[in-house]
Amino acid sequence: MTAINLTPPSANPQTHTERGDLHRPAALTPTVDVSSLIDTTNGVVDRAIFTNREIYEQELRRVFAPSWLFLGHVSQLTKKGDFFTTYMGEDPVIVSMDQDKKIQAFLNSCRHRGARVCRADAGNTKAFSCTYHGWAFDLQGKLQNVPNEAGYNEKFDREAWGLVPVAQLDTYRGLIFATWNPKAPPLPEALGDMAWYMDAMLNRDPEGTEVVGGVMKWVLKGNWKLAAEQFATDWYHVNMSHASALMVLSPTGKGPVSGIANTPGRQYVDPQGHGAGFPTHPKSRFDAQAVHEHYDYDALRDRLGAARVEGPMTTGHATVFPNFSYLPVNGSIRIWHPKGPDEMEVWAWTLLDKSMPPEVKEAQRLYNLRTFGPSGIFESDDGENWSEVQAISHGFITNNTPLNYQMGLGSERHDGVYPGTTSELYSDAAGRSFYARWADLMNTPAWHEETE
Ligand code: FES
Ligand SMILES: [Fe+2]
Repeated sequence: MTAINLTPPSANPQTHTERGDLHRPAALTPTVDVSSLIDTTNGVVDRAIFTNREIYEQELRRVFAPSWLFLGHVSQLTKKGDFFTTYMGEDPVIVSMDQDKKIQAFLNSCRHRGARVCRADAGNTKAFSCTYHGWAFDLQGKLQNVPNEAGYNEKFDREAWGLVPVAQLDTYRGLIFATWNPKAPPLPEALGDMAWYMDAMLNRDPEGTEVVGGVMKWVLKGNWKLAAEQFATDWYHVNMSHASALMVLSPTGKGPVSGIANTPGRQYVDPQGHGAGFPTHPKSRFDAQAVHEHYDYDALRDRLGAARVEGPMTTGHATVFPNFSYLPVNGSIRIWHPKGPDEMEVWAWTLLDKSMPPEVKEAQRLYNLRTFGPSGIFESDDGENWSEVQAISHGFITNNTPLNYQMGLGSERHDGVYPGTTSELYSDAAGRSFYARWADLMNTPAWHEETE
C-alpha cells in the first residue's frame, strides 16, 4: 500500500509526531493510466482529459504538486512583512517576506482545523492569525501562539504544527517559482532552454522588470489546459479568432497589414512541456507605439542577439509548463489556476522594464489592458473559444470524438538559429510536447506516492 507523506522525513524529523498513525489508503486516490488518451506520434488527443474528474484529481497530485509553479513577481514584496496569497494547483499559499527579507511560501491552511490563516489578497503583517480559534503563525509559517496552550498535554509540540512550507523556492529574473517536490530538479534545469526565450521579455533591461497595477483576476469556463496549450503552441488561431481586434490595431483600419497573415516564424518545442511561438516578419509588430519608440534596438541586439530581438521579442506567446504563460510584447504574464475540470481562474499581471520612463510604463500598462486585460479585445476572443470548447465537451458522443493535433507533424528540428528544438510558427508541435510531458507526469508516481 502506498503511504502519502508530503513532508520528506529527512527535512522534518517531526513527521511521525505530525502524522501520528495516519495512513491514507490507496483506494482514496485511484490512478488512471492516460497512455491511451494521448497519441503524440499521430497527433490525437482524447477529450476526456478536459472533462474527467478522476483525471483532474490525478493532475493535482501528479502534475501540479511535483512541478515548479509560478507564484508571483519579486516586486510584489519589498518590505519585511509584505505578503500576497495565491494558489499552487488548488492549494492556497501565502508568499511572504520574512524578517531577513527572505521570500517564504507555505500552505495557507491552519494546522488546527484547516481554516485559511490569511484571507487577504496582499498586505503587510507581523503574523498570520487564524480567525477560527486564534492559532498564530510568524512570517516563516512557524506556529507562534496557541490560545489556552495549557489545555494540551506535554506531548504537544508547537514546532511540529507550523504551516507546511514549500519544498523549494527560487526566482528567475524576478519571477518567483516554488514546488512542493523536494526531488524536483533545480529551477534552472526545469526551465532548460526555455530561459533563453523568456529572456526576450525578462532581460531587455539591465535593471530588470517589475509588475504594476495589481493582479487582475477573472473566472473562465474551460479546462486550464485549453489556455496553457494555446499559449504554448497556437499562433494558428490568431488571424481567425482575432480578426476584428487585428482590424482595430491595423494602421489602415482594414485588417491585418499585409505580411502578417501566414507570416514566417518559429515555434519552440521543449521536452519538458514548455512552448513558445513568434513571427519573424518585421511587419508583425503588435507593440504600443510609445514602447516601440522607447527601445534602442541596436543596444538590444548587442544585449540579446539579433535572432532574439527579431524573433521572440517582437511578439508572440509562451507557456512555462504547466500553467504559467506570457505575451512578451504586451507585458502580460498570467497563471491559469485550475478550478475543477471545467473551470479556471486567470490571474494576470502587467510586467514592465524597470527603467522605462513613467509615460512609457503607462502606455504599456494601458496597451496591455486594452489587448489582454479582462475585457481586452484579444483576451475576450480567447476566453470565448475556451468556454465554447468546454461547454459542449460533456456530450457523450462529443466527449468520445478525439481531437486533431497534427499540424507540423515531423517538422521538429534543430534549425541552427534558435536554441533547442523548433517547428514552424503554425504548428501543434509544442502542444504535442506539452501533452507528452503531461502524460509522462500523469503516469509516474510522484515523490509523495513512493512506497515506504
Ligand atoms: S482552525 Fe485555525 S485555530 Fe482552529
Ligand atoms: Fe489569442
